[in-house]
Formats: sequence, structure tokens, C-alpha cells
Amino acid sequence: MKTIDELLRQGVEGKRVFVRADLNVPQDGTTITDDGRIRAVLPTIKALTGAGAKVVVASHLGRPKGEPDPAFTLRFAASRLGELLGRPVAFAGDTIGSEAHSAVAGLDNGQVAVLENLRFNAGETSKDDAERAEFAARLAALADVYVGDGFGAVHRKHASVYDLARLLPSYAGYLIATEVGVLRKLTDDVKRPYVVVLGGAKVSDKLGVIDHLLEKADRILIGGGMAYTFLKAKGHEVGISLLQEDQIPVCLEYLARAEKKGVEFVLPVDVLVSADFPDLKTKAPANPTLVASTAIPADQEGLDIGPQTRKLYASKLADAATVFWNGPMGVFEHPDYAEGTKAVAQALVDSPAFTVVGGGDSAAAVRILGFDEDAFGHISTGGGASLEYLEGKTLPGLAALED
Ligand code: 3PG
Repeated sequence: MKTIDELLRQGVEGKRVFVRADLNVPQDGTTITDDGRIRAVLPTIKALTGAGAKVVVASHLGRPKGEPDPAFTLRFAASRLGELLGRPVAFAGDTIGSEAHSAVAGLDNGQVAVLENLRFNAGETSKDDAERAEFAARLAALADVYVGDGFGAVHRKHASVYDLARLLPSYAGYLIATEVGVLRKLTDDVKRPYVVVLGGAKVSDKLGVIDHLLEKADRILIGGGMAYTFLKAKGHEVGISLLQEDQIPVCLEYLARAEKKGVEFVLPVDVLVSADFPDLKTKAPANPTLVASTAIPADQEGLDIGPQTRKLYASKLADAATVFWNGPMGVFEHPDYAEGTKAVAQALVDSPAFTVVGGGDSAAAVRILGFDEDAFGHISTGGGASLEYLEGKTLPGLAALED
């Protein structure tokens, strides 16, 4: 994979460089609640502007339906990028239309323009190769060179991630190079004990990675909504907790495989339950009850791991040499259900191990709960992307940069 350093050595002064970033950041109205992904692409943008390139930044935001939708505008992310760069950036209200062309034509060397949400065009995510190629060709008209740096989207075979990278001379940006370097440490020659903590709502999202990790990890700790399908698979009642009944057979198979392979597969021993899902807006006290994970009442749902589980998981992390964590342990957005996720984050902070937080909600949780990002080995910007990498899948956005 050629990296941006090679491009910089060749010189980029006056060249139009298309940077595919992942500015898909959480927002509350016009306020960006976690700008981690914007900060993560700054080294690449700064290196390019510092070398005199005309930088065209493009990204998706959310999942609009292939046409403009003001709820998903990149306008606010663009102005946050300008604040972080310490200078204004131009914003084009379209992707391949007259606004994009005039914004790019108006760039002086060292300046930055941000395009509107790529997914406002159906060609971006189309399953039809020709439709995607057509959109990519129109994006290619805006630039001379492509830099892939949207790690969070490299698992998507989308026009700006895959097709465009194959149309223009392409290089990996610093973020992608760093992310891939870190994930390699979790797949090749991993230092042991290797402990994996998985949480989040759906067990189905994690099956691929569990399948793969059963061959690699020494210990797998499970929390979050996905734990209840495993508890049910072991024969326990889970009340009205999140449950994917159709996944029970696979969970049983994985539990059996873990036992056979000597992989410790650890489930919560106690959980906080309530009859009601908490109000995440008002954060009104939820008054949960603590119960054993084998005794969840029929009318209650599990919303966080309990204190004994927190202790247990901290002890299972204490002697680790490598840790990968993806997915919160509970509804951390509400203070009554944040302790489980906090305890795991704290155990990683206290650990001398090489610790990786895998993207999405767990990365946001670490920042929202006030942990110092530098206390972790690496916080990935890619949730789905890092999981698919660990599953051993070919990621289109990385494959296109290898070609
Ligand atoms: C993410 O948030 O994981 C990335 O930005 C990819 O977004 P997507 O799942 O909508 O493709």
C-alpha cells in the first residue's frame, strides 16, 4: 500500500487532492457531540495543505437515501474541521454539481474545500457497478490524486471508497496507515494473554468476529445487549431483555467450541434490570434493580452489567498483554447504566497491555465518559471496519489502495 509520504515526496504543490475521510460524527442538531473522527484526519489534511495541495475533503454522514436530506448535511462537520484547522474551509452544497466545481476551482494552494454528503447521490452506495463507476468518474473530475483516509468506511464497496481509488493515482492517508498497523498487531503474532471484550446490542453483528477470535483469543468477555442471547442459550430466562432467538443455535455452537479450544468465554454474573428503558434525554433517575444474571424477572430487561461482573471482568483483564474491546457493556448514555462500560474502560486504562478500543459506540463512550484518550494504546475510528478486518475479510477500501 503506497502511503501519503510517497505522494509528498513526489510533490503535491498545486495538485488537487481528493481526501476520502470518514466525518460520520454523532450530532445533536447542529452540535457535534464527538469530533474524534474529524480530529483523526487532521494529520493527513495538514500534511497536504502544508505541501501546497488543493485539498478536496469528502465523506458520508449517516444513511440518507441517495438524495439530498438536510438532516444529514456535512455543513456542521465542515465548519468543525475549519475550527480544528484554525482556518475557514470552503463548503460546497453538492458533490459533483456546479457548487463542487466552483469550490474546487476557487481553491488556492494549501486551501481546503469540503463537499456535501456523498450519500446524497445514489451512485455512492449503489450495488450496480456501472452506476457506482459513473458517480466515481464524476468525482474523479474534481481531483488529480486520491488519498484514502476514511478508515471507518473501508469495509464499504462504495464509489468514493473503492471505485474512485482505482480511477486516480491512490495513496493511503496517515489514519488508514495507523489503523492497519494497529490491527495487524491483533492478527499477526499477537502477544498473550489476548483478551477480547465484546458488547453492543446485537449478537448477530459480532458472530463473524467471534467465530474468528475463537481461533485467536485466550479469553472473550461478553457484555451489553448481546449477552442476553448467550444467557438464554445457556438456559437462563432473560425477561424482556434484548434477545435474538434465531441466533441461539450459533451461540451454543460457539460456547461448545470455546470449551473445546480452552478459550475462556465469560458471561455476566449479575446485571442491572428495570421494567423500563431509561429516558436518555432527561436522564431522569432509572432506579434499576440488581439481580443475578440467572434470575432476571420476566417483566424486566437487563441494561448494564452489575458490580460483581465489573470486578470479574477487571480481574480477567488484569494480566492481559493484548486487549481488544468493541461495544459498550450497557446503556452508558444514562448515568445509572454507565458503570459497566466505565469499569471496562478503567480496566484498560490500568492495564499495561497493548489496548485497542474498536470504533463506533465504544470509542464514543470512552470520550463521552471523560477518559483520557492517550491512556489507551489505540482508539480506532472504525467500528464495523475494525471488526471486519479482525474477521479476516477483504476490505474494499484497503484492497483498492493495494492495487
Ligand atoms: C461507521 O459509522 O461505522 C462508518 O462511518 C460507516 O458508516 P455506515 O455503517 O453507515 O456505512
